[in-house]
Amino acid sequence: MTDKNNVIALDHVTKIYKLFKNDKKRFLATFIKSVTYREKRAINDVSFSVKKGESVALFGRNGAGKSTILKMITGVSFPTHGKIHVKGRVGALLELTAGFDPEFSGRENIYLKGQLTGMTNKEIEEVEEDIVEFAEIGEYIDQPLRTYSSGMKARLGFAINVCIRPDILIVDEALSVGDLKFQKKCVDRIKKMIKDYGTTLLLVTHSTATAKQFCDRGIVLRSGRVLYDGNIKKAVSMYNESLKRKETTDLTRVTSESENRIKHPVEMSHKQMIILILLLTVLVVGLGIVLSFMRM
Ligand SMILES: Nc1ncnc2c1ncn2[C@@H]1O[C@H](COP(=O)(O)OP(=O)(O)O)[C@@H](O)[C@H]1O
Ligand SMILES: [Mg+2]
Repeated sequence: MTDKNNVIALDHVTKIYKLFKNDKKRFLATFIKSVTYREKRAINDVSFSVKKGESVALFGRNGAGKSTILKMITGVSFPTHGKIHVKGRVGALLELTAGFDPEFSGRENIYLKGQLTGMTNKEIEEVEEDIVEFAEIGEYIDQPLRTYSSGMKARLGFAINVCIRPDILIVDEALSVGDLKFQKKCVDRIKKMIKDYGTTLLLVTHSTATAKQFCDRGIVLRSGRVLYDGNIKKAVSMYNESLKRKETTDLTRVTSESENRIKHPVEMSHKQMIILILLLTVLVVGLGIVLSFMRM
């Protein structure tokens, strides 16, 4: 990292996913080089850095590459080209329940997750009660996780990730956990982390109001590239513009789909045609037989 104040730095990062026709081909590809696949360039030569204590929102339409970037920063996924530097402990609210073991109790899962992020048992012990209290799951904390509702699992996941005092907090569309009261508690907690501990925040949310509430800086992505990086207000207006463009293309698509639907009944396959002729023949023959019986 060139600037020592940077805690995250992406240096010409490209992520290419390999798309195989099916799971069999994906499996074979681990042994045979000649197995064919298509390539999806999810991230295309992206560079940016984030300073300690900065709060940055990532915007972009579905499939723009937001989650791919966050996963690479978290270390869940790796760049195909380029480098990523991350300094400090990362708390990630991606898939909140990832890494949980259903047979372990909530409390045991706190230790499991803590150890996975490299904490010592003593460090986990210090935040254990804080997590139990924040998650609001009462005596269920000592029951196996498979007995939890999905909301309880999500609350526990959230509580762990904010209570382990991460240097960097990554939130991917995860602020809609639980009821409104719990959501407010999460928002207040994140604000406190930023203010009191100088936590760096990287936020993906569809709510531009939430983004404005937390961040001064916004990065807009389009098809895996950085379209804009700067002031949050400008980023929001560029994101809104790109959403409007999407609506227009969607409308065109719906129109042409409905046109297709109208055309469809007239276009008949050979098979359908033969069945129709057979049915008509049976009907005519049947009618003939009935009529001849009536004459008798
Ligand atoms: N595991 C994967 N395998 C193949 N393609 C993927 C995978 N994950 C994401 N993609 C593709 O990469 C692009 C970016 O996805 P993603 O980062 O999830 O976008 P966003 O979070 O902005 O909606 C999309 O076109 C998506 O289909
Ligand atoms: Mg996503």
